[in-house]
Amino acid sequence: MTNEKKSLWKNVVELPGNFWRSIFRNPLPSSDRERAATSFTNFFLHIQPVRVNKRTLKPTTTFGLGLISFYLFIILTLTGILLMFYYVPSTTQAYDRMLDLRSSVAFGIILRNLHRWAAHAMVAVVFLHMCRVFLTGSYKPPREFNWIVGVVLFILTLFSSFTGYLLPWDQLAFWAITVGTSIAGYAPFIGKMLKFMLLGDVTVGQEALLRFYVLHVVVLPVVLITFVGVHFWRIRKDGGLAKPEVEDEPKAITAPVAAPVAVSAEGGRKFTVQGLVRGAFVKVGVLDEDTVFSWPNLLIAELAVLMFTVAVLMVVSYFFNAPLEHPVNVMHPPNPAKAPWYFLGLQEQVSYSAFWGGVGVPALELLLLVLVPYIDRGKEGIGVWFSRKRFLANLLFLIFVVINVFLIIVGTFFRGANWQFVSPF
Ligand code: HEM
Repeated sequence: MTNEKKSLWKNVVELPGNFWRSIFRNPLPSSDRERAATSFTNFFLHIQPVRVNKRTLKPTTTFGLGLISFYLFIILTLTGILLMFYYVPSTTQAYDRMLDLRSSVAFGIILRNLHRWAAHAMVAVVFLHMCRVFLTGSYKPPREFNWIVGVVLFILTLFSSFTGYLLPWDQLAFWAITVGTSIAGYAPFIGKMLKFMLLGDVTVGQEALLRFYVLHVVVLPVVLITFVGVHFWRIRKDGGLAKPEVEDEPKAITAPVAAPVAVSAEGGRKFTVQGLVRGAFVKVGVLDEDTVFSWPNLLIAELAVLMFTVAVLMVVSYFFNAPLEHPVNVMHPPNPAKAPWYFLGLQEQVSYSAFWGGVGVPALELLLLVLVPYIDRGKEGIGVWFSRKRFLANLLFLIFVVINVFLIIVGTFFRGANWQFVSPF
């Protein structure tokens, strides 16, 4: 082979290597320095800290509920985009498109199932995540604002699911939304206007379908992902997850250091970290031995939670089909017409008093939820499940949860024709 041919051959063979290196600037990390560099030079990883507290990785700290909420949102976005290739938001076509999806689109049925079950799961998991944050006192300073961002995320999750409910345009969808939006109509002064704005008409019809579609596929997801971004950013700025107070807590590394280059024992659990700051070799912080590198420890935990979420959702979607009832018949309301399950507690309350059940009590609950970190200002029991120091707060919150879950169960299983009590057994 001539030299010219040899170098051409070399270039062709080396191309994949160069190509790979142009994307991933670091080799697979084999030292602490490289582990740190991998975290802060990768776009997707740099949202995470270079080191993470070991507590964060313990499954019982969070049960991965925030992460599962996020993964469900990603799954919903991906499956939702695929569904948009088939769906038409028209009262004459929507239902038929659902039938086509079930019978003639490759993997259509599993796609719809995944989307539907992930939506239900997200409502439940976000709620559970909120419970875990409360019961571990993790809304206390400096995390008050992130709690409020969380409450907004919870409301957005409910409305994303609610707006999607109408889209199949079957009896279940039509009457659930008719009931749901009539609850909004009970608000004093603005109720009627609010309902009209939602429906674009006085009843659920073509205008409502189009409005719900636009809210469901564009407005709510964009607002939701923006708030999720703020939520994650705040977790970083608030110093990671809340943890119990430790005496003489080591400080985080704050100096602009290229990478920690030397670590030496300082006594106890603490280590001095030295690094190169603007050319000088100086002490840049103290390391807590309770922390580990995010790469690969946090990454592995995150991937495990992702695999768990996808696996459970796949199994459920394989065995259980999302419901599709008869096409809309405005002359034949089911008796009883029920809102989606997460609003059935509201519907149950409405059956006692339209205003207080549908508007007064929920508005008060929402206000109290937003104000939680400002009402409970004690600084004890942070980051600890069911801390005795927070007995009263946890008790009140659990009463709130139990009452709401109880109302949903009653509305779902114990209400029959004309909203009379029935036995599900
Ligand atoms: C779309 C909905 C949500 C997503 C994707 C989400 C995601 C997350 C993630 C990934 C974490 C860190 C890990 C974990 O705690 O599991 C977190 C922490 C947190 N979340 Fe959420 N969250 C959502 C809704 C909420 C809600 C409804 C609340 C409360 C009302 C809330 C309040 C908080 C707070 C205060 C933290 C910090 C907790 C700590 O420091 O231990 N989040 N969230």
